[in-house]
Amino acid sequence: MATVIKSGTLVTAGDTFQADILIEGETIAEIGASIQSPGAQVIDASGKLVLPGGVDPHTHFDLPMFGTVSSDDHYTGHKAAAFGGTTTVIDFVPLDTPRVEDSIRLWRAKADPKAAVDFGFHMNITRLDKQVEEEIPRLPEWGITTVKVFTAYNNRLRLQDGEIFKVMRLAREHGLLTMVHAENGDVIDILIEEALAAGHTSPEWHALTRPAWGAVEATLRASGLAAQAQAPAYIVHMNAGGEVDVLDYARRRGLAVMGETCPQYLFFTIDHLRRPNGAKWICSPPMRTPADNARLWQGLETGAIQVVGTDHCPFFFDGTQPICYEDEWVAIPGKELGMGDFTKIPNGLPAVGDRLPILWSYGVRAGRISPNQFVALTSTNPAKIFGLYPRKGSLTPGADADILIWDPERRLTYGIAYAKHRTDYNLFEGWELTGYPEKVLLRGQVIVDGDRWLGRPGGGRFLPRQPFAAPL
Ligand code: URP
Ligand code: ZN
Ligand code: ZN
Repeated sequence: MATVIKSGTLVTAGDTFQADILIEGETIAEIGASIQSPGAQVIDASGKLVLPGGVDPHTHFDLPMFGTVSSDDHYTGHKAAAFGGTTTVIDFVPLDTPRVEDSIRLWRAKADPKAAVDFGFHMNITRLDKQVEEEIPRLPEWGITTVKVFTAYNNRLRLQDGEIFKVMRLAREHGLLTMVHAENGDVIDILIEEALAAGHTSPEWHALTRPAWGAVEATLRASGLAAQAQAPAYIVHMNAGGEVDVLDYARRRGLAVMGETCPQYLFFTIDHLRRPNGAKWICSPPMRTPADNARLWQGLETGAIQVVGTDHCPFFFDGTQPICYEDEWVAIPGKELGMGDFTKIPNGLPAVGDRLPILWSYGVRAGRISPNQFVALTSTNPAKIFGLYPRKGSLTPGADADILIWDPERRLTYGIAYAKHRTDYNLFEGWELTGYPEKVLLRGQVIVDGDRWLGRPGGGRFLPRQPFAAPL
């Protein structure tokens, strides 16, 4: 059956205007004034905003690490994403097998039956041997057009600079974009060893042993390697103000270097790690200072940073205490594993469902970014950078009907009562919000209606993505 969304105010990355939207099947058929479609289901959006569904290009669902696993799987994480207005997520495939193809097959086997929103994959390149070099060119065949490399996590995930250069060059030759986790692995290892030897075990030492200068220097190094490989690059989870300066510098010199930050780096600082429950804020890279928060905001305002993702990688704060999720009691070991040793606290936090509501209230309503910038940062830009545009990230005939009916006046006190992450805490607990998704449509189907969940495991689809094309 067709659906007409009537009398809403459409907000895209470039425009704001009143129109109706006709949806036929899974896609937008028409956008215009006073669309008549006899027999169509009507969604009255008067007084509401109509936005393209959010695209979060940085999630880690069901990821084994630190002797446990991230507590949202590809169903619960997708459901949380949907409630927060995100209808597309891109998850990272760990390279855990000798053959890249097998790692991807295993990740698809986990995700496909559970997916509740549409999803794609990035491939982690954490080893560069002959087999991996042979398989990188084949990634587009498997629908993957992005690789992630690390300059930190020595002896685990890190590649050497020469290897990163080789990956970037190979990636560029085959239409792939290289994403970089930018920290200084050597310095981190030395500082951690010294901190532990001196008996420093509390969560703040997680931040003190991962200095901002390491992130800044590694972002410059990644930009320089990209320049030498004549390749595009994308800096993930930007956290330090100096990284914005570097990105600005690289871009003004014509490099196709782009970047993302995440809500946690816009609002929190090392002081949060000093709280008695500081482990809740532990992720890598760590929280920095108010000056870093401010420079990241400025980067969003000026367009130096193109994307707000999440790096959603949740763990329980106290994984010994079960929570009730969809009528079942669940407990998954979490941050308590690092009690008495900050190096053992699982790195990561919940955010996929928070991103849009928090950024709307504390970005748009606070006057820091416009509604159009909000759409660009959370939907259109990631869709473009990651080869999904205009199918995702746009309100245009032919696009997938992934649509948010957004109530800009809805007021609520946010926290775990609203967020649907499968964990026992929310970093934005008690924050006052104005503006929230009222309905969420995935390819024409309403999957969230107020507080009702109408989605299902298997309702989301894998998205083979286009080769990297358009540097923003
Ligand atoms: O602490 C984090 N961010 N965990 C996820 C892994 C990563 O580097 O993105
Ligand atoms: Zn990372
Ligand atoms: Zn990540």
